[in-house]
Amino acid sequence: MGESKQQILDELKKRKGEYISGEELSRRLGLSRTAIWKHVKALRRDGYCISASTRLGYALLSVPDRLYPEEVYAGLKTAWVGRNFYYYEQVGSTNQVAKELAEKGAPEGTAVVAEEQTSGRGRLGRGWLSPAGKGIWLSLILRPRVAPWQLPQLSLLAAVGVVSAITEVTGLKVGIKWPNDILSRNKKLCGILTEMRGEMEITQYVILGIGLNVNLDIEDFPEELRPCSTSLKLELGEEVPRLPLLNSLFYHLEKGYEQWEKEGFSSIREAWKKFSVTLGRMVRIEAGRTAFEGVAVDI
Ligand code: BTN
Repeated sequence: MGESKQQILDELKKRKGEYISGEELSRRLGLSRTAIWKHVKALRRDGYCISASTRLGYALLSVPDRLYPEEVYAGLKTAWVGRNFYYYEQVGSTNQVAKELAEKGAPEGTAVVAEEQTSGRGRLGRGWLSPAGKGIWLSLILRPRVAPWQLPQLSLLAAVGVVSAITEVTGLKVGIKWPNDILSRNKKLCGILTEMRGEMEITQYVILGIGLNVNLDIEDFPEELRPCSTSLKLELGEEVPRLPLLNSLFYHLEKGYEQWEKEGFSSIREAWKKFSVTLGRMVRIEAGRTAFEGVAVDI
C-alpha cells in the first residue's frame, strides 16, 4: 500500500467509527482534499467500509476480512515468523511459491498467504480445495538445524500450533488425527503438507503448508467431501475473522518451533498426545506389503 493511503488508514483507525474532517486529515498529512478523496475511494475498493459526509468528513466503519500485509503486520506478535510476508489474491499453490522463494534464499519465517489457490496441493498427491477468502492458505519457509530423522516431528509440531491457535481464538475443541490432520466432530478442518529439500545430511529448507478451512459453507465442498470435511464456520455457526487466527497461528508456530530447537521433541510430544484422537484407538499400519493392526498407545 502506498504511503499516503496507509497514513490515511492509520489516522482513521486511531479513531475508528468517529468522523474526522477532510480538512483535519489534509492538515495532518499534508495532502490535498482531492488526494484524500482519491485514497479513500481506493481503500473502499480494498474492502474498507468508510463513510464520507460533506459535513462531517470520513469515518472508518469496518476493516475487511482480508489478510492484507498491513493488517497482518499490525497484529504480529512474533519475532521472525511472518515478518517477511508475501500476499497474493490468487496463486496456484502457496507451497509452490514458497519453494521458489526458498530456492532464491528467502529467510526462515517467510510466509506466503493467498486468498485463493487454484491448484492447492494436499498430501498423497491429492488436491486441496481453497476457495477465495474462505480459509487460511499458508506456507512457511523453515530452515531447521536438526538431523533429517527429526524432520517428521515438524509436522506434529505444526499440528499442535494449529490446535493452540484455534483454541485460543475460537475456543472450539479440536483433535489431531495421526499424523497431522485437525478434526472437529471427526471431520477434517485443517490439513498440513510439509515439503522439503535436502542433500545428504543437510536440510536446505522445509515448506510447511497449512490449509485451514475457516468460513467455507457446506456448498463450497464437493458432494463427495461433505461427509468428512468441515470448517470453523460450520462448527461454530458463525463467521470467524481470519486475521486474528493467522496472527495466533504465527505466534504458536514460532513458540513451538523455538521450543523444539532448544529443548527437543519431548514437550511437543506431550502436547500432541494430549490432543490426539488416534491414541487409544484400533489402527491399521501399512508398511509396504505388510500390514499391522492394533491399538495405538503412543508415538
Ligand atoms: C492435506 O492433504 O491434508 C494437506 C493439505 C495442505 C494444504 C495447504 S494450503 C496451503 C499450502 N499450499 C498448498 O498447495 N497446500 C498447502
